Amino acid sequence: MQFQWYPGHMTKAKRQMQEDIKLIDLVIELVDARIPLASRNPDIDELGKNKARLILMNKSDLSDAGRNREWSDFFREKGYYVVCLDARSKAGMKDVTNVVMEACKEKIERDRKRGIKNRPVRAMVVGIPNVGKSTFINSYAGKACVKTGNKPGVTKGKQWIRLNKNVELLDTPGILWPKFEDQRVGLYLALIGAIKDEILNIDELSLELIKILLSDYPTVLKERYGVEEDAEPPVILGQIAENRKCISKGGELDYSKAAALLIDEFRSGKLGQITLERPKIQDGSAE
Ligand code: G4P
Repeated sequence: MQFQWYPGHMTKAKRQMQEDIKLIDLVIELVDARIPLASRNPDIDELGKNKARLILMNKSDLSDAGRNREWSDFFREKGYYVVCLDARSKAGMKDVTNVVMEACKEKIERDRKRGIKNRPVRAMVVGIPNVGKSTFINSYAGKACVKTGNKPGVTKGKQWIRLNKNVELLDTPGILWPKFEDQRVGLYLALIGAIKDEILNIDELSLELIKILLSDYPTVLKERYGVEEDAEPPVILGQIAENRKCISKGGELDYSKAAALLIDEFRSGKLGQITLERPKIQDGSAE
């Protein structure tokens, strides 16, 4: 399957982020816990160098708990602070506050030594579209937030949300663009719904999902749809169509309807907690 991406409109977003990043001490980067590497743009490492770094593996309600641990170790090894999160139900939010303080400790200490007192640490949220940036900011800042802006020392037009006496958060997130370096990344982004479905071939996408599930979560398809796991993916799709009564007007099996149903059930977590990507600790990549 071929994916194309035209990042023209992203140039402005990147320039804005370069400006915003100058104002902050801590980058809070959201990734999708089901595809922790494919949902990142590695350019953030260059943009955010010399800043404290926190990775939030969001939507961890949909990802596999065992893999969450593997991925957390993977990122920690590379020097990031990591928290697994479900921004929608707010699970993990307390850990975020603790880790933000931990990540900022050095900065607070440095300021103290220089005689700078009471300067709050500033943070901003970044991530590709749909990873949950707005949901996170709303849950995290919540009703307790106090907005501060346009006061001396604060860049004009910027709104800061005061989280507590030590930390302020920029109220608008930085939008990163997904990086389609290889087709696998495109496939993963398509599977979690980060690419518009209209430009995708849902039938092909569902066959790719079936292949991944057969290899990594071999009992899931049988348990949910009663299919034979040792059959070929197109046969399995046919069995899903049959079992879920996906029938066209002419009385034939409707493969596209079954494909859409499978993808939808995966995305909404009905197939269970599934992570598509697995870290390969040795060479810093994923598979
Ligand atoms: P963005 O700012 O990064 O673009 O993402 P946004 O917060 O708009 O979230 C994108 C979608 O992901 C939203 O769903 C949101 O509810 C959902 N979401 C955010 N965090 C989590 C999480 O931890 N777990 C799960 N399961 N979903 C999460 P939506 O379908 O666009 O809207 P709605 O279903 O909330 O109405």
